[in-house]
Amino acid sequence: MRILAIETSCDETAVCIIEAEGEGLGVRFQVLGNALLSQAVHAQYGGVFPSLARREHERNLVPLFQKALEEAKLLKSAHNQGDTSLIEKVLHRENDLRPQLVAFLKEHGKPDIDCIAVTHGPGLEPALWVGVNFARALAHAWNLPVVPVNHMEGHLILSALAGQDEKYQVSSIKYQTKHKVQFPLLALLISGGHTELVLAREWMKYELLGQTRDDAVGEAFDKVARLLDLPYPGGPEIDKLAKRARDVGLTKSHIELPRPMIDTDDYDFSFSGLKTAVRRLVESKQPLSEQTKMEIAREFEEACADVLVAKTLRAIEEYNIESLVVGGGVSANEYIRERLAESIKSYGLSTKLLIPPRELATDNALMIALAGYFRALNKECAEPETIRANGNLKLV
Ligand code: KG4
Ligand code: ZN
Repeated sequence: MRILAIETSCDETAVCIIEAEGEGLGVRFQVLGNALLSQAVHAQYGGVFPSLARREHERNLVPLFQKALEEAKLLKSAHNQGDTSLIEKVLHRENDLRPQLVAFLKEHGKPDIDCIAVTHGPGLEPALWVGVNFARALAHAWNLPVVPVNHMEGHLILSALAGQDEKYQVSSIKYQTKHKVQFPLLALLISGGHTELVLAREWMKYELLGQTRDDAVGEAFDKVARLLDLPYPGGPEIDKLAKRARDVGLTKSHIELPRPMIDTDDYDFSFSGLKTAVRRLVESKQPLSEQTKMEIAREFEEACADVLVAKTLRAIEEYNIESLVVGGGVSANEYIRERLAESIKSYGLSTKLLIPPRELATDNALMIALAGYFRALNKECAEPETIRANGNLKLV
């Protein structure tokens, strides 16, 4: 099956085309075309504005779509003078996207794809709608089925399938999984909007063990970065600064931050108190020296890692977890990756750790293509008209 996938849930606009076959963990897939743009416009505001994200998705979707089709050698020239009124109706709110897609469809024929997968949540609703309506318009134009995909399931499935091979790159042509995934599986999903521990006793059947009660861990990274005057997105900046602190020997300092909920008898998290503690610290240490910034970044990262590792290990032991799958943007964090790997080892656990290569940890459309493939196999394609963006969509 050839899947065209569209991801617009936050500030990455992404399109990916894959060819996949096989069921469950017997899947084999190949990336045919992949195009992604991280919206730079948000950096100047220090955060993502939904209306700006929406506008950028509208402007960039068609060029990225064309690029992915070209790379997949699926771009077909044609002269169509057909009626585009339905497409214009579907995209009646997308004033930047509509003329571009109508012009594209006049010049190009239907590519050889079987299904369109699109993220319909969770995420920023105005941003999600652009992808959803784009998918609906294409479905009408080319008479293709559409499968709605949960973004968090995308992270989970991608990590499960591509999380074993550090050297894997999106550009590689062939990818055959070696099926290291075993059940029960635990997913630690850590992104800008979510922090969840999800249990799967079988493929694609989920139980929520716990989640954050306030901020997501990625959100805390971004907010703390802002307090330290670091550019947006803050997660990778804290990652670098904390590493620099360790490299120059600032491994222990007088700066101490709390480890919220580390000892609570549940699998929930809380990161907003940690962020508030950083705010107080920053206020008490004005003007901030470079060294203090480095120390705060390191201690903050360590506090997050301590809590994530403690709860994850406890769940591994309680549920006899065979595979730990880590996904979402924060799983790009070098220190958290190391800490998870080390602690599994030092506890003598045989749990297989599956973390995607860093470039696939953050949002992309390959993850949507893969989750979409499995959902399409499950016959979950929907009438385009019925698909709606849902910012609060739950995995379980
Ligand atoms: O999964 P993702 O790309 O988007 C959402 O679904 O939210 O995750 C984005 C989050 C942001 O908060 C970003 O700061 C964080 O992931 N992030 C990181 C790193 N790279 C991205 N956090 C810590 N260290 C990183 N290296
Ligand atoms: Zn994400």
